[in-house]
Amino acid sequence: MRTQVAIIGSGPSGLLLGQLLAEAGIDTVILDRAGKDYILGRVRAGVLEEGTVGLLDKANAGARMHAEGLQHDGFSLAFDGRDHRIDLFGLTGGKRVMVYGQTEVTHDLMACRESIGALSIYDAANVQPHDFDGQAPFVTYEKDGVAHRIDCDFIAGCDGFHGASRKAVPERSLRTFEKVYPFGWLGILAEVAPVSHELIYANHPRGFALCSMRSAHRSRYYIQCSLDEKIENWSDARFWDEVRRRLPAHHAEAMFVAPSFEKSIAPLRSFVAEPMRFGRLFLAGDAAHIVPPTGAKGLNLAASDVHYLFSGLVEHYKESSSAGLDAYSQKALARVWKAVRFSWWMTTMLHRFPDTGDFDQRIQEAELDYLTHSRAASTVLAENYVGLPF
Ligand code: APR
Ligand code: PHB
Repeated sequence: MRTQVAIIGSGPSGLLLGQLLAEAGIDTVILDRAGKDYILGRVRAGVLEEGTVGLLDKANAGARMHAEGLQHDGFSLAFDGRDHRIDLFGLTGGKRVMVYGQTEVTHDLMACRESIGALSIYDAANVQPHDFDGQAPFVTYEKDGVAHRIDCDFIAGCDGFHGASRKAVPERSLRTFEKVYPFGWLGILAEVAPVSHELIYANHPRGFALCSMRSAHRSRYYIQCSLDEKIENWSDARFWDEVRRRLPAHHAEAMFVAPSFEKSIAPLRSFVAEPMRFGRLFLAGDAAHIVPPTGAKGLNLAASDVHYLFSGLVEHYKESSSAGLDAYSQKALARVWKAVRFSWWMTTMLHRFPDTGDFDQRIQEAELDYLTHSRAASTVLAENYVGLPF
């Protein structure tokens, strides 16, 4: 089989790239080691920057998002028993975010791909990129015990943090940066109205808490937990009690509870691999970088990578110019590092670290006080939260 761009990974990065390329008349095959239902069963963050919304529109995949997504003009920082609203709209000159689950984005992109009849191969075993340092790369995989090969012009490694693409790059060609945080997030989904119409990020002596949502009837809550916490020790009742304790009283009293239908613990990590291009192999999304979820940048960073890669590929095919592809890694990484910095900063400011001394604690309190009382400082937060331009 032959295609122009072989895409490894059918998560948001691979699917968005595939859809944009299809709209531009460029042929792709997407390979994923997992099945469709498994991919659609993953629950992840749910805040889209305007740039991400624009790309989904450009890919012709935005209709349901516009119908069902929730536009948010601000969010709340809660600490010291009080709420401080960050007016995203006012501080950024009219920008907002869209609250719409990543699972729904994935679902919509998969439906678009099916409707145009583009090929996705699920449950593909041993997917391997080959010869990307030469002119004729190819990808091999096995399906139902039979070996296959796809020849292509380029390979897009969109296969997430544990994927095969980054692993195929010789170690000497890669530099990696990592920070592992000494806590995780315990998250639940429940069919219940959100406690507030906007998100609440809470800093509390018992640890961080986040009140988010998927719709007017479905809520997503998280609490900071220790890394050795066991999910089976967290009944719904214990979880709801703990969220309440970490919120200002007026929210705790107003909170509705319901049985959860999803509950999981995720560790927090920052990770970047440089560069993001190796000859004809390009890494995008979680394959190249991970951010902690505080600030919801993961999917949005994947989208900006895809924007740069898509533009470079279009320049290559339509204008016979390699300029965009040559600049891909540098452009993508410049934006990646700013989001990595922002996610690290939000994480540091809002969580309780096990080894925090009195001095560091006062610094955190001073930072929150400054942030919520200085328009300049609030603007820095708002500008990053709605997403830096790309
Ligand atoms: N071979 C083929 N496919 C693979 C392999 C492999 N060896 N390893 C992983 N995959 C697939 C996974 O099954 C998954 O469907 O690659 C896909 C990667 O998807 P994601 O992990 O969702 O990564 P990405 O598309 O870059 O999405 C970035 O998702 O994880 C969140 O926080 C992240 O929001 C960000 C967004
Ligand atoms: C979510 O709704 O899952 C969510 C929202 C905001 C974040 C992280 C996760 O910062």
